[in-house]
Amino acid sequence: MRALGLAVVCLICFTGLSVAKDAPPEVQVYTRTRSEVGKENTLICHVKGFHPPEITIDLLKNGVSMTNSKQTDLAFDETWNYHLTKHVRFTPNKGERFACNVTHLGKSRMYDWDGDM
Ligand SMILES: *[C@@H]1O[C@H](CO)[C@@H](O)[C@H](O)[C@H]1NC(C)=O
Repeated sequence: MRALGLAVVCLICFTGLSVAKDAPPEVQVYTRTRSEVGKENTLICHVKGFHPPEITIDLLKNGVSMTNSKQTDLAFDETWNYHLTKHVRFTPNKGERFACNVTHLGKSRMYDWDGDM
């Protein structure tokens, strides 16, 4: 009986794995609280729905990588697609541009933060 139970579990796990196909990331760039010029905030780049799990996320200020950013652990949802978040403490000022550079399956794309300042 125990072997049968194991076989059933593995059937489910293989079915789940075979469902996962290459999928491009969905990206959202936003701030933790409403942004105001000169006020400290957190810039967040949320990336989800992608597969395979290898991905590079960079937060950029005026095109330059923000080195003090932190990344959450990779997590996956019920459809076996992965999601994670990169965030950084920042203080937006007039004339500055912020963006998230996401590289997946060899393709890089920039996602601009459209700060409502
Ligand atoms: C985005 O990231 C990729 C991979 O790290 C890098 O090759 C590319 O130059 C970056 N693009 C920009 C505009 O920084």
